Amino acid sequence: MSYLKLENVKKVYNNKVTAVDNFNLEIEKGEFIAFLGPSGCGKTTTLRMIAGLESVTHGDITLEGKSIVGLTPRERGISMIFQSYAVWPHMTVYENVAYALKLRKLKKADIDEVVQDVAKTTDIVQYLNRYPSQLSGGQRQRVAVARAIAVKPKLFLMDEPLSNLDAKLRVSMRTDLKRIHQNVKSTSIFVTHDQSEALSLADRIVVMNHGVIEQIGTANEIYHESETMFIAKFIGSPASNFFVVNVILEDGEVYLVHDDFKVQFNGQEKDVLIKNYLDKSVVLSIRPENFTVNKGGFIKAKAKIIEPQGSHIIINTDIGGEEIKIVSDLLELESGENILLGFNDKVLLFDSETEKRIK
Ligand SMILES: Nc1ncnc2c1ncn2[C@@H]1O[C@H](COP(=O)(O)OP(=O)(O)OP(=O)(O)O)[C@@H](O)[C@H]1O
Ligand SMILES: [Mg+2]
Repeated sequence: MSYLKLENVKKVYNNKVTAVDNFNLEIEKGEFIAFLGPSGCGKTTTLRMIAGLESVTHGDITLEGKSIVGLTPRERGISMIFQSYAVWPHMTVYENVAYALKLRKLKKADIDEVVQDVAKTTDIVQYLNRYPSQLSGGQRQRVAVARAIAVKPKLFLMDEPLSNLDAKLRVSMRTDLKRIHQNVKSTSIFVTHDQSEALSLADRIVVMNHGVIEQIGTANEIYHESETMFIAKFIGSPASNFFVVNVILEDGEVYLVHDDFKVQFNGQEKDVLIKNYLDKSVVLSIRPENFTVNKGGFIKAKAKIIEPQGSHIIINTDIGGEEIKIVSDLLELESGENILLGFNDKVLLFDSETEKRIK
């Protein structure tokens, strides 16, 4: 039995805006899940429905096998933190963390034990007597995390908790969050529109677009086995490159034909291509690092703009008028040079109408 389950959840605001639709998700105890997607895709709405801050228009949410949609936020035993660090300015860090425990009428000694314990986990022991105004943004956000996990919630929900922090702090805080999660094992959902945050933190990622789930999977799955063109475009930086190609059969072999290249195709999708796509066009998706540059190859191109990244370069070129980006380790390559391109077999094919992966 799954720990948290969302079944066919739908949210319509004011009888007209459908913010979330047909949302199905099962989460195991202790999992760290990220909701990832562009602005307005329904991440916050879904989180707020789980927390009980927003009603569910249709469908059910169960926690430990029991429906929670009729419960108040407080009855659900869920902690949530937001983008703006919700810590109380007039209380010390200690009082902030202890507050919810006091409300539960725990004994002073027991409260102290919990506060010291979570302060250690979140690395705020030396700030317990300070006020939030005397802390940095990252420290304040760790206080918010400490306060949320002190009550041992059944679920720990975070809505873009790092987006107020500067770039460097975000990266170190996300490592902190991962470490804290490994210690506490709280079942957590983390909302972000930053893909590198989602990929690096979560056991599984729920990618959303326009209120529906596009794919649920591990970082590797959504990157290497993207189910839709939206995912192939949205995940990865630079994004995947797309080519519309024709599928033809010659002497029993399948070829993908583009104005600028023709390649034999021997991937696992070969049979499906023969069955359903002969003489039709499909979309070939190639990740920037899956091209070969000047190592044999069959596509002539020009390196129009080179963007050095230190460890590698990004080559901007075009194939048949289509702008593409290639990641390469040829650090000495210069803008304007002619290059010879190939690609390895880690390509994905998409149906050009449904934009879903062919497999
Ligand atoms: N209270 C509301 N009343 C009406 N529409 C709303 C309300 N809250 C959100 N919406 C709409 O629902 C959709 C989903 O919003 P939501 O806040 O869940 O998106 P999000 O994925 O969290 O976006 P962001 O990344 O910008 O925070 C949007 O189209 C939004 O305009
Ligand atoms: Mg939001």
